[in-house]
Amino acid sequence: MDTNDYIEFYNELDDEDKLNSHLGIDRRRPYEQTTKKLAQEERSFKHAQDDSGDSFKFSYKAARFEEWWLLDSLGAFYEHKWISDVLRKVKGGKEASVYQCQPGAEVDAPLLAAKIYRPRMLRNLKNDGEYRIGRVDLDQDGGALWKARDINAIAKRTSYGEEVRHQSWIAYEFVTMEKLYHAGADVPRPYAKEKNAILMEFVGDAGTAAPPLSHISLERDEAKQLFERIIRNIDIMLANDRIHGDLSAYNILYWEGEIKLIDFPQVVLPEANPSSWRIFQRDVVRVCQYFSAQGVSCNEKKLAADLWVSHGHKIFKEVEPKYLDPEKPEDRRAWEKQE
Ligand SMILES: Nc1ncnc2c1ncn2[C@@H]1O[C@H](COP(=O)(O)OP(=O)(O)OP(=O)(O)O)[C@@H](O)[C@H]1O
Ligand SMILES: [Mg+2]
Repeated sequence: MDTNDYIEFYNELDDEDKLNSHLGIDRRRPYEQTTKKLAQEERSFKHAQDDSGDSFKFSYKAARFEEWWLLDSLGAFYEHKWISDVLRKVKGGKEASVYQCQPGAEVDAPLLAAKIYRPRMLRNLKNDGEYRIGRVDLDQDGGALWKARDINAIAKRTSYGEEVRHQSWIAYEFVTMEKLYHAGADVPRPYAKEKNAILMEFVGDAGTAAPPLSHISLERDEAKQLFERIIRNIDIMLANDRIHGDLSAYNILYWEGEIKLIDFPQVVLPEANPSSWRIFQRDVVRVCQYFSAQGVSCNEKKLAADLWVSHGHKIFKEVEPKYLDPEKPEDRRAWEKQE
């Protein structure tokens, strides 16, 4: 078993029961047999680590497999002195887990957040097809993919292609954050990206991570102010040809009266995606739903339309792709006409 197996392994293993069943180990069998096997594997992995010289150790008490996963995902950040320690897990999610990190010598920030994606095989890809339409896939470094080999592999959904697609998904999150951060949007400052992880400004302080807005009740005046701030951010995104695609009170962090928008891998390009107007409206509606519960009234449809049109986009009816059935006479006629 190599490190990658462990990474995949780890993600399925959140409790001892699953651990045992995954290993095919009968829980009635002596526990030492399990631990002995694991200890052997751990020793050989640690040995490989020590051979690489300066080993990365951290204060966060990770579970066994999680530790390997962290070493694999964050090792390069450590080597480049972007981080010096992993302090704690902030949140384990369906798509990714987020850890609070101590910055290394190369970064001047109080704290950092590392978002580590689940390995491709175990991620519940948010039906990414809809979001990928009209997006050029990106390589690990955030540049457009151009090699026919990669493009074909994605189209054919080979295992290699799925890995490239996974990389592109992560790269979109990072390049979008960079773009929006430089455009003055309220997003955590992005610092670095590795194969499986993104390093960014930590929102919160040493003891507390900023909660999402969905967990917060606001006074009406503050709600009004923050609502306007979010509209300003949506406007900046449109000015930069980006739609968040999964915007809601769950993906907006609140800290000391300020907000930060997070979670961008599914970002949509307005001109290129035939569903962009629908996806954009959904973002605006979800934001309005939260704020109307906080006492801020808004006409969500009108707001979405005004923002959309002000950036030169057209409001269009989405055309559902229609598949013709040669067994149906009307479809057959339509098909023959096309011919
Ligand atoms: N920069 C940050 N600073 C502090 N906490 C953060 C930061 N980024 C993310 N988090 C925390 O991690 C959680 C998950 O982050 P994010 O929304 O980007 O991932 P996700 O893939 O959507 O995960 P989930 O499936 O749980 O929503 C956030 O809700 C927030 O609690
Ligand atoms: Mg999220």
